[in-house]
Amino acid sequence: MNILTLLKKDHEVVQHLLAELHESSNKAIKTRRKLLETLKQELTLHEEIEETIFYPPLKHHSKTKDLILESYEEHHVVDLILAELDDLETNDERWKAKLSVLKENITHHIREEEKELFPKVKEVLNHDDLEKMGHEMQQKKASHGS
Ligand SMILES: [Fe+2]
Ligand SMILES: [Fe+2]
Repeated sequence: MNILTLLKKDHEVVQHLLAELHESSNKAIKTRRKLLETLKQELTLHEEIEETIFYPPLKHHSKTKDLILESYEEHHVVDLILAELDDLETNDERWKAKLSVLKENITHHIREEEKELFPKVKEVLNHDDLEKMGHEMQQKKASHGS
């Protein structure tokens, strides 16, 4: 399967989890922990797949290089906020504020990938490349049991 389709599916899962977290109440301590744990696993694997399979060849094309460099930095910021959120008690008064900032950062990054990067990817990589990467992504996911 085309890697762009698979990445978009991941993005949907992540956005759904963020929406659920956003709607959760201060008292739903277990729910928040569980959702956050799932989000962490999804994001970690997604970032790893992008950074090892998807981004490297795109860094070598002038049309995509700048967006790829920016994407690595955006992953880094998301990881930092996520780690901070993970360290906070889920009923801390800053929890929701930090989650909102995480959500904004992830939403911005996903939008940039889908609206700016993916169209350029279609110009620099051919269908076979995208299918091959999709296959690699599926293998990596299978080896992680998801
Ligand atoms: Fe990304
Ligand atoms: Fe992504």
